[in-house]
Amino acid sequence: MEVKPAWWKESVVYQVYWRSFCDTNGDGIGDLQGVIAKLDYIQSLGVTMVWINPFNESPDKDNGYDVSDYYAVMPKAGTMEDFERLVAQTHARGMKVMMDVVVNHTSDRHPWFIESRSSVDNPKRDWYIWRDGKEKETGEKGTAKEPPTNWRSYFNPSCWELDEASGQYYMHSFATEQPDLNWANPELRMEIYTMLRFWLDKGVDGLRLDALALLAKPEIFTDVEEPREIKYLTHNPGLHDFLQEMNREVFRHYDMMTVGEIAFATPETGPLFVDEERGELNTLFHFEVADEMPEWDMLRFKKIQKEWAEALAGRGFGSQFLNNHDHTRQVSRYGNDQDYRVQSAKLLAMMIHTLPGIPYIYQGEEIGMTGVRYETIGDYNDIAMLNKYVEEVGKGKDPAAVFRALQPLSRDNSRTPMQWDTSLHAGFSNVKPWIKVNPNYVEINVEQAEKDSHSVLAFYRELIGLRKSNPVMVYGDFTDISGDDPYLYGYAREHDGTEWIVLLNHSGETRTFTLSNHCLGSDTLQLALVLGNYAETDPEWVMEERTIELRPYEARIYEVLG
Ligand code: GLC
Ligand code: CA
Repeated sequence: MEVKPAWWKESVVYQVYWRSFCDTNGDGIGDLQGVIAKLDYIQSLGVTMVWINPFNESPDKDNGYDVSDYYAVMPKAGTMEDFERLVAQTHARGMKVMMDVVVNHTSDRHPWFIESRSSVDNPKRDWYIWRDGKEKETGEKGTAKEPPTNWRSYFNPSCWELDEASGQYYMHSFATEQPDLNWANPELRMEIYTMLRFWLDKGVDGLRLDALALLAKPEIFTDVEEPREIKYLTHNPGLHDFLQEMNREVFRHYDMMTVGEIAFATPETGPLFVDEERGELNTLFHFEVADEMPEWDMLRFKKIQKEWAEALAGRGFGSQFLNNHDHTRQVSRYGNDQDYRVQSAKLLAMMIHTLPGIPYIYQGEEIGMTGVRYETIGDYNDIAMLNKYVEEVGKGKDPAAVFRALQPLSRDNSRTPMQWDTSLHAGFSNVKPWIKVNPNYVEINVEQAEKDSHSVLAFYRELIGLRKSNPVMVYGDFTDISGDDPYLYGYAREHDGTEWIVLLNHSGETRTFTLSNHCLGSDTLQLALVLGNYAETDPEWVMEERTIELRPYEARIYEVLG
């Protein structure tokens, strides 16, 4: 099906977790000046847009996702002038800026919440979600209050927190310090739209909208059978009305790109957010891989890709990513960070740049940075992990076992400082960083990668460069040509008479790929290599047998010549 071209569909986005990127003022925390200092490096990758994680004023209980002033920059990150300079400097290099906005909740230190909690009849009371507790029988003592429902939050056993002064509970889908805004209140919504326009008027070109699936709350506040399946907090009635209104009030007045973080989106519900006819968002992140596939599972992955490609074909545009600031690094989780670190990092890179959708690169991924195993719980900072640790240990479980179980998926795996060079603290800062550097920085760092023409970094540059000159990578139709092989993945992309096939061996053994009954032309298939992750690869392939041997973690793109 024909896809309408648009600049944002051709984007390659680089995500900067600024607090772990580059520290310029010696406080051990990365900052906006640090991002500016590294813009030449970012530009050298060939990416078109830079996503900056939240930098608004915040008590930083959840690393900036708890905003206390939407119109200010947190001093750790820098100043408003720094941000304006960052926008100007990014634009001067021909790249765009994507801002991360958190509109499902604020910090409990936000003046709106302070007012809201001050009394039940405060005009801002209704800007948050307040409810009376439930009466519960307590035997001799009569009755007491308990939370309105048994719903969990992402970070706590209950999403309700009692406010002693008013006797009511407020709802928080994440940490206790992140009260949820009440999107049913029109005044609040207008205030949010004004805020979005403020940043767009400053030259921001894209918005990554946090926790969007949660904006509309359940219609009925009642206990659920399975509180653990947090799904009930998402995709509630009214959500699409809010997004359509946001689009009418804000998005459609700017030449911009939007990407929504849509937890629990499926191939059935996803298109509703991005269908071009509906006027909501440009693209979305779904989490069928990052949240729901703890380790590599080829058959599951293929199914997810196929279903989404079919669901979105001719309707909307998706995203490709395997990690971000909330997820363990992809080479450790989905590749092989031991014997095949370089090969598997390249294979995963080729995959996300050639599957349909906009590729997202999370800082450090382009040099094959790996996850980390700190020695003690005290070394960790991630509120999701720390709260879970307290909860599980509180149930009487063995602390050492709980710690080991939480390590592999801790969000801190991806939050370690960017590894620039072999100097102390990996060139990230000249003082002790806010979070420990991964000790492998001595081998894995940008300086080393720049010297090696076969580095993961060099491969990213090639891939991104190809995307610019080959519309087939952006607009091509997608067909899986590998069937149910559990190790080999192959697919074709076809656009305007150009056909590419991508062949990936996701295993540590040599395997044979058979190009079977795909619609590919004549008896003798002629292929020209576009890119491969092994230096010695035959540039041309005339196939009589229709089989290709792929070495461990080998990845190739071919153009079909005939
Ligand atoms: C999103 C963010 C995550 C944050 C959460 C609450 O999932 O990516 O880092 O903790 O929302 O705002
Ligand atoms: Ca700093």
